[in-house]
Amino acid sequence: MKIARDLDTLRPLVAGWTAAGARVGLVTTMGALHEGHMALIRAAREGSDRVVATIFVNPTQFGEAADLASYPRREDADLAMLRAAGVDAAWLPTIDHMYPGGPDTFVAVPSLEGILMGATRPGHFRGVATAVAKLLNGVGPHAAWFGEKDFQQLALVRKMVRDLLMPVAIHGVPTVREGDGLALSSRNARLSAADRAAAPVLHRALLAGRAAVERGAAAAAAEGAMARVVASEPRAALASADCRDAATLAPVDGRPASEVVLLLAARFGEVLLIDQMTAEPPTPEEPPS
Ligand code: PAF
Repeated sequence: MKIARDLDTLRPLVAGWTAAGARVGLVTTMGALHEGHMALIRAAREGSDRVVATIFVNPTQFGEAADLASYPRREDADLAMLRAAGVDAAWLPTIDHMYPGGPDTFVAVPSLEGILMGATRPGHFRGVATAVAKLLNGVGPHAAWFGEKDFQQLALVRKMVRDLLMPVAIHGVPTVREGDGLALSSRNARLSAADRAAAPVLHRALLAGRAAVERGAAAAAAEGAMARVVASEPRAALASADCRDAATLAPVDGRPASEVVLLLAARFGEVLLIDQMTAEPPTPEEPPS
């Protein structure tokens, strides 16, 4: 596996592969890799001839300096995992490389960045869109793979790529879960043992929300069902429970008519966990012929 820290190293490598007819796939990460990232890499390997993975802890998507400082950094272990997963090149840009002279030019997706998780994390999704645009421009892949767990991020990246006419396909990869249902996340490592034991309540709440949608309940009832399950766990503090249109993330009035996504966020001590699940409403009865 080649390791590149600057574009002068990365670009000739990718140009050589592309000139030889290879399709280059991209997986972007902030490191602290786990099985969820490996699922992205497996999907990228299946859909490409060469895979580039990036590790960049992007400062512009962190609200508080303390959050950025405490974000786990495990470069050697991450590189070993990427190598074992068959990644062809790892790009680890420096902050100066990504933001020469400091952050100034940004990519904004106003319709998606201020809602849901963006409402409580001002600037977060603008930082994500900006970093992802730069990583896509740096590598020039034919496709990139993102986790469905960060559903709003995936929707935002899809819209940005469409709106900016970027020549890349964006693929979502299903959430990878522990045996007890907890979605894999770099944040899980920061949970106390008691909070780790309590955290699968999010998955149970999503299943309750999905069951409500599948019964034909209104979006608000599905949100209520999720909130009640989270409230049954004293260690969890609900931050948000939403049932939104899966394609646009727009609020749903009454009973959903098409696929929805259930989005949950809850705090366990200091750690905010998010999770999501899609759900299909029942198909309307055919009128008797
Ligand atoms: O999901 C992440 O790890 C980050 O938000 C991303 C997409 C790498 C952008 O910094």
